Amino acid sequence: MKAASILAGLALAATSHGLNVLITNDDGFGTANIRAMYYAMKALGHNCYIVASSSDQSGQGSRLIFTNNAKLTSDSEFGIVKSGAPSIGQDPNDDHIWYYNGSPATQVLVALDYVLPNHANFSVPDLVLAGPNYGLNVGPFLYSISGTLGATQTAIERGIPAIAFAGSYGTQTAYYDIKPSTSAGLQDPATITGRLAATLAQAFIDKAASSNSSSGRVLPLGYGVSVNIPLITSFTDDSCVNPPFVRARMTGGGEFTSKAVYDNATGLFGSANFADSGTNMCINGDCSLPGEIEVINSGCKSSVVIFTIDYDAPYGVSSLADPYAALLPDIVQLNNATNLVGGLGANASVQGTTGSSSSTGTATGSTSSASTKSGAIRLIMENVSSLAVLTMGVAALATLL
Ligand SMILES: *[C@@H]1O[C@H](CO)[C@@H](O)[C@H](O)[C@H]1NC(C)=O
Ligand SMILES: *[C@@H]1O[C@H](CO)[C@@H](O)[C@H](O)[C@H]1NC(C)=O
Ligand SMILES: *[C@@H]1O[C@H](CO)[C@@H](O)[C@H](O)[C@H]1NC(C)=O
Ligand SMILES: *[C@@H]1O[C@H](CO)[C@@H](O)[C@H](O)[C@H]1NC(C)=O
Ligand SMILES: *[C@@H]1O[C@H](CO)[C@@H](O)[C@H](O)[C@H]1NC(C)=O
Ligand SMILES: *[C@@H]1O[C@H](CO)[C@@H](O)[C@H](O)[C@H]1NC(C)=O
Repeated sequence: MKAASILAGLALAATSHGLNVLITNDDGFGTANIRAMYYAMKALGHNCYIVASSSDQSGQGSRLIFTNNAKLTSDSEFGIVKSGAPSIGQDPNDDHIWYYNGSPATQVLVALDYVLPNHANFSVPDLVLAGPNYGLNVGPFLYSISGTLGATQTAIERGIPAIAFAGSYGTQTAYYDIKPSTSAGLQDPATITGRLAATLAQAFIDKAASSNSSSGRVLPLGYGVSVNIPLITSFTDDSCVNPPFVRARMTGGGEFTSKAVYDNATGLFGSANFADSGTNMCINGDCSLPGEIEVINSGCKSSVVIFTIDYDAPYGVSSLADPYAALLPDIVQLNNATNLVGGLGANASVQGTTGSSSSTGTATGSTSSASTKSGAIRLIMENVSSLAVLTMGVAALATLL
């Protein structure tokens, strides 16, 4: 993966000065998605550090897990760092990439309180980016379970603007397996996912820079953004390679929580996705917006949700004007807009460097059913009353976290 190949594809120019950006995730410091987002943010001129877990820490929410071992007791993911190495350290090939053997929320704390003050030329990042997670993080259920969102919430609690990204594709791969080109002649899905994340982050940065706010913050104190990206199809075709960003809300639209499923044969419980009333209740914000899961299931579109970590229900909600529209850059569009622009920008190329496909790769707002290509998404909307689907649900949910 060459940064230059990303540079060539980026639609948005870097701002006049780069920001100091902390990047983390819950899938680990060696996965393709986090590295692709790091490369794309660096290509936009930002001063970036990764601090992320030495191995997969999915599903930990905001848990704090600090290791009791000063050394790794097993190899890090993909064998990048070997057993016996310190429990905190740098990637052998990039001293801006750090791993720590702990949960996602602890990565943020270790970064803010140790790595950045001691090893970077800044202490407090301007922005924290988390993910892109392998598997969707839609709805309030995953908002509380996802380690990607746990790290994001932790950063916001520490006063730092933070954006969480998740993608439908659920199979974790190593960063060194990112291909310059797929068999369809397009960029690797991880490259496109990382570019989508960086493009949206840059749009928020530019939006904040052009506003009259004196704070200079990318997002107001206590605010965060959660982004879900549909299945990027560039392994095989260009039907979903440039999904537009669409405004959504966290609840509603058939959003699911979970249920316990008892297995008579084993005497054990498993879980299954289960759409219930609580996750589909609109209390805050614009109730006319589609739910995240609704956007993802409606085709090749990414959902963008603004949330706050003030979990109190407000008084007099119905009399409030939409408080969020002013925060969103133009690249985040309404689902009912007539001409949705792709999330990489209208004219972005997604060609791989060695590709020979004649595709333009600029599909925007394609209505092709990207969601039907993902078992994980499809089952959410299906009736969970059959055991076969329930079993699928447990497996799929595991990849969602
Ligand atoms: C910090 O380091 C980055 C990357 O080397 C550089 O671009 C930036 O100017 C430095 N910032 C300061 C304040 O020295
Ligand atoms: C910023 O302030 C100027 C001068 O008061 C005003 O003309 C402009 O509309 C403001 N821009 C925004 C984005 O609020
Ligand atoms: C599990 O056992 C209960 C009670 O005997 C029975 O009603 C149910 O049909 C069984 N379920 C399965 C999936 O075998
Ligand atoms: C488009 O969607 C927005 C947000 O959901 C809603 O407020 C607006 O009424 C919709 N416009 C039309 C023409 O349906
Ligand atoms: C994108 O392409 C269109 C049509 O070719 C062109 O009119 C427009 O100026 C281009 N936009 C950018 C930002 O290059
Ligand atoms: C699920 O199955 C129940 C019982 O068979 C049925 O009433 C319901 O309409 C089904 N729901 C969907 C979404 O198919």
